[in-house]
Amino acid sequence: MRPTPSALLLPLMAGIAAVLTLAIPLPSFAQAVTACLQCHGAQTGRGEAPVPKWQGSVHADNGISCHDCHGGDPKDIVNAMNPARGFLGVPREKAIPAFCGRCHVGIMREYLRSAHGKALGAGGPTCVTCHDSHAVKRATIDLINEASCGRCHPYARAVEIKEAMRQTEGIIGGIEKDLTRLRNEGIDVEASEKSLFSLRNTYRRLFHVVDTARVKRESGTIQQELGKIRLSLTQIDERQRIRKIAGAFVVGSLLLSALLLHLLRRTYDDASPPGD
Ligand code: HEC
Ligand code: HEC
Ligand code: HEC
Ligand code: HEC
Ligand code: HEC
Repeated sequence: MRPTPSALLLPLMAGIAAVLTLAIPLPSFAQAVTACLQCHGAQTGRGEAPVPKWQGSVHADNGISCHDCHGGDPKDIVNAMNPARGFLGVPREKAIPAFCGRCHVGIMREYLRSAHGKALGAGGPTCVTCHDSHAVKRATIDLINEASCGRCHPYARAVEIKEAMRQTEGIIGGIEKDLTRLRNEGIDVEASEKSLFSLRNTYRRLFHVVDTARVKRESGTIQQELGKIRLSLTQIDERQRIRKIAGAFVVGSLLLSALLLHLLRRTYDDASPPGD
């Protein structure tokens, strides 16, 4: 029987739809169009400059927009920048840690206690010196580099703290890779992901103390905790391996019995008299 056109069309359309969904990954937060973005995006120079920088940032990816930092009313084009609508304007240098620290509370606390925080307004770096204000990217240990950390003092003291962090960062990176692999295999690793997430936060916050001795001390404790996650992943891998071997065994036995059955049938057919 020839398939009807609609019987051919349906799977074809379903196929196209599947390819399209795969090809266009939607961001987890759609970037809402606000009055701020509309007006600033249409400006030139100083007013427009933050828009493209922000667009590629970790904040844009997580739905943190102009008004989340600067305040104001994102729905009212006329009163958007009215202080009565909560517009905060541009923070002065000394106000920047509190400006970012509204959301990054723990980091602000560590920073304010550090040699950097104590030198705030007197030659010390603020959050935006190291992270930028609009082009903020996911933080990695590579933020510690000569161009950034050699601006105010010898780079040597930055190298010392970077070396102290490298090993732990390496372990974190390795576990992250394994978690991605296991997740792609369809295994539930949520509990491990949660523990890693909180350890990683604690660890990266620690950098802001810029105290090499303390980083070394706390790295030991954190590496012990990371060791526990590592162990549970090794156990998952081991279980998977056993499951795969068992699976292969079952498939092998099925094939073998099918073959035996086939041979048996042939023997039986050959044995039966013709024209029966
Ligand atoms: C109708 C147009 C318009 C809208 C809407 C608008 N802005 Fe502005 N904004 C401007 C102009 C014009 C400037 C001055 C730019 C310059 O200096 O070149 C400005 C300046 C700013 C500044 C710098 C202020 C300063 O003191 O230097 C910030 C921050 C800012 N806008 C944020 C926002 C935020 C956040 C929103 C949304 C809640 C918003 N804007 C909505 C037009 C607008
Ligand atoms: C993560 C918080 C954050 C977000 C989101 C953010 N800004 Fe800013 N913005 C700042 C900070 C902090 C400064 C002050 C930077 C400095 O002093 O170096 C600033 C400065 C500015 C300035 C003044 C720049 C200058 O040259 O003096 C303008 C204009 C501005 N922002 C507009 C915007 C617009 C428009 C958006 C949305 C596209 C936006 N900002 C999103 C934190 C933010
Ligand atoms: C309104 C809340 C808010 C403000 C204000 C804010 N942030 Fe964020 N920030 C976030 C959120 C939400 C994320 C994404 C969280 C995540 O996925 O890790 C983020 C992520 C980040 C990251 C990347 C974290 C990582 O995992 O690597 C950095 C760096 C960062 N912010 C720096 C800043 C700086 C610097 C400022 C001030 C200029 C600032 N933030 C102001 C909410 C905020
Ligand atoms: C805007 C200038 C500036 C930048 C950029 C800067 N620092 Fe500093 N740093 C200071 C000042 C000021 C101090 C405190 C006074 C001093 O010890 O010289 C300091 C102190 C330190 C200390 C000693 C802390 C202590 O308790 O003795 C370390 C470590 C350090 N910085 C690391 C870094 C690293 C790593 C970077 C880059 C990610 C960096 N700094 C970028 C200005 C800066
Ligand atoms: C001297 C440079 C410097 C300053 C000043 C600084 N940071 Fe960082 N920040 C870093 C570095 C380096 C890392 C990454 C550490 C790592 O990967 O181990 C980082 C990591 C982060 C993270 C990611 C933490 C996580 O859980 O992954 C956030 C968020 C952040 N900083 C926000 C801030 C805020 C807010 C301020 C101001 C209160 C600030 N930083 C000041 C250099 C700096």
